[in-house]
Amino acid sequence: MSVVAPAIDANPLREGLEQERVPDASCLVIFGASGDLTQRKLIPALYSLAHDGLLPAGQTIVGYARPDYTDDAFRMAMREACDKFARVRPVDDAVWDNFAKGLFYVKGEFAEPDGILRLNAKLKECDQTRGTGGRRIYYLAVPPNFFPVIAELLGREKMVTDPEQGGPFTRVIIEKPFGHDLASAKELNKVAVTTFRERQVFRIDHYLGKETVQNLLVLRFANGIFEPFWNRQYIDHVQVTVAESIGVEKRGPYFETAGISRDIIQNHMLQLVSLIGMEPPVAFEADAVRDEKVKVLRALREFPRGHEIDAAVRGQYTDGSVLGEKAIAYRKEVNVDPHSNVETYAALKIFVDNWRWADVPFYIRAGKRLPKRVTDISIHFRPAPYPLFNKLTNVTMQPNVLAIRIQPDEGISLKFDSKVPGPTVRTAPVTMEFRYATSFGAEPPEAYERLLLETMLGDSTLFARRDEVETAWAWLDPLLNAWGADPRGPELYPAGTWGPEAADRLIERDGRKWRRP
Ligand SMILES: NC(=O)c1ccc[n+]([C@@H]2O[C@H](COP(=O)([O-])OP(=O)(O)OC[C@H]3O[C@@H](n4cnc5c(N)ncnc54)[C@H](OP(=O)(O)O)[C@@H]3O)[C@@H](O)[C@H]2O)c1
Repeated sequence: MSVVAPAIDANPLREGLEQERVPDASCLVIFGASGDLTQRKLIPALYSLAHDGLLPAGQTIVGYARPDYTDDAFRMAMREACDKFARVRPVDDAVWDNFAKGLFYVKGEFAEPDGILRLNAKLKECDQTRGTGGRRIYYLAVPPNFFPVIAELLGREKMVTDPEQGGPFTRVIIEKPFGHDLASAKELNKVAVTTFRERQVFRIDHYLGKETVQNLLVLRFANGIFEPFWNRQYIDHVQVTVAESIGVEKRGPYFETAGISRDIIQNHMLQLVSLIGMEPPVAFEADAVRDEKVKVLRALREFPRGHEIDAAVRGQYTDGSVLGEKAIAYRKEVNVDPHSNVETYAALKIFVDNWRWADVPFYIRAGKRLPKRVTDISIHFRPAPYPLFNKLTNVTMQPNVLAIRIQPDEGISLKFDSKVPGPTVRTAPVTMEFRYATSFGAEPPEAYERLLLETMLGDSTLFARRDEVETAWAWLDPLLNAWGADPRGPELYPAGTWGPEAADRLIERDGRKWRRP
């Protein structure tokens, strides 16, 4: 069974954007313009926006980093990046030529006042030549320790306007990781609000830019049929899986300080949990939505003091094979301590202690070197109250499962029991499916496209607010501290399996099983 969407030329959300929500041209400065994120995500996303006609005329992008590029050399490097990574490929020469006219480069060190002054001069020149009117967006695609340095210099050189005073806008986009724990996140926030006001700060969690993640809100709050069942009366439990088939690749030094819990759970997974768990907001506006999300985070049941690790399992991959290829153990990866106890897998059973969700477990797990790459949310409903058909057939009825596939093959499916054709009453599970690609005839846009556009528009609904970030850290810190102090380290699992056996026990002791997404 499949769901067919009405025939339309494009995603209606983006149609709306084209007609109604065109941002004013600004200078978008990318600090860290020679880095991986810029090449793989940011410039390709900006080009795709240009291709789809969503960038305003005059939109300007200024890269800032250390290599010795001229504007033309920078444009060539960025063209190569788009040839490799843009969603819309092959790159259209006419669109590119026009886009490249707005690409500039300034060489400099982050902590070098002269470099920042050269940047400022370039931005002022662009205001004259490209009509950017003093509007600024600073994208900090930089190692997190540089954030305070750059913010301080921008403030000192008066490159930040105050929205309370009116005039052209200044906004800053900050990449994850946003802190290492509660104390460091608070420190970063303090720095941020010394130079910027909260509404100028856009903290990226790229999961929030994904169409399917936003569709969670549409599914829940634009349809009459789901919300009445979206509570403890009808839902038995919820599962969230973020599985990656890759290992740490070149990110060993970062991963050694983070682990999967800081890298995925504190941000992406808790964002998903808040969107699944939140109450309807009074409006689809930044603060109204985020007020409701943060309430879910505040309702997360604390880990039992002294027994934090009982509610969770941590694992680390050893030698194995993934998708038919040999994979080495985490401890043998480049720039990883051969005795490292950092977790590459974590599974938690958590509760949202409020009226809607009391005693409904959320089983969440994230891991590297699992059998495939998939992010999947599943809502497992309670069984029918009386087993009418089991008596006739001796077959166990399957509970209904609503599965939301965040990536890849974005879509939603609903599993329910159906009668098998024939003279006896036999039942079997069937699935009703909606897929973005088939229903809308196109792949959804990349998360960074949406997030960059929302920043240009000044809408922070899809960005994490200060209290969300801090509340998430405050909840997770006790578990991370307990793991840090536990000499037993993570349980090992072979690369290419679904994690350590203890993770299966975590859910199976409740009479449930992990869904195989
Ligand atoms: N890459 C991703 O997919 C990804 C995903 C999520 C979040 N992030 C976050 O995004 C940020 C950037 O990541 P990345 O992967 O792009 O890192 P990266 O490849 O190491 O790039 C860092 C950039 O910063 C520049 N840089 C470093 N020190 C500098 C200094 N003192 N002065 C001037 N420029 C300096 C580098 O220039 P040089 O070329 O001169 O070294 C480079 O352009 C990090 O916070 C990361 O956690 C990245």
